[in-house]
Amino acid sequence: MLNDDIEKVLITEAEIKYKIHELGGIISNEYSGKDLVMVSVLRGGVIFMADLVRSISIPVTIDFMAISSYGPSTDTSGVVRVLKDLEENINDRHVLIVEDIIDTGLTLSYLLRSLKAREPAGLDVCVLLDKSARRIVDLPIKYKGFDVPDVFVVGYGLDYRQKYRNLPYVGILNKSVYEEEWANL
Ligand code: IMP
Repeated sequence: MLNDDIEKVLITEAEIKYKIHELGGIISNEYSGKDLVMVSVLRGGVIFMADLVRSISIPVTIDFMAISSYGPSTDTSGVVRVLKDLEENINDRHVLIVEDIIDTGLTLSYLLRSLKAREPAGLDVCVLLDKSARRIVDLPIKYKGFDVPDVFVVGYGLDYRQKYRNLPYVGILNKSVYEEEWANL
């Protein structure tokens, strides 16, 4: 699917499919015999989660959280507000957080702290995209899809102003999209 607002496709639909198949196999192996709860963060992580769970061959429970940052995006406190908490009790269970992208790492570091307090048997992270150039807090990433450079990407769950999440690939947004919006302000 071509989209005029996309300057360049960074990761194709086929590459994503292949990687998810690979990750699903590894996760199925490593969590075999364990009570696995996969937790996705709304809204960006949902597309990745939906495809990833279908490549997993062992029993798995899925759950969702919604969070929003407090204050300006430049705030480095990493404090986030929980808009929707888990339905599941994760105590003594093996939790795998499924995220679309890790940028500064602040959101995930808050999430890890908050879920750790509930004393799961295990707490790990699976992320599709790692934008490590902008990392502020170091995080343990157990499963990773792709490294991405320090550019703003959209598609496959990732948005710009709530658009482009439905693109089946990950791409770089055309600068004209921002410029047009700024001109209209
Ligand atoms: P962090 O707390 O800086 O790691 O931010 C992670 C969140 O920022 C992600 O879950 C995304 O919602 C958003 N984000 C970071 N980089 C991008 C990007 O390149 N495109 C779209 N959203 C992004």
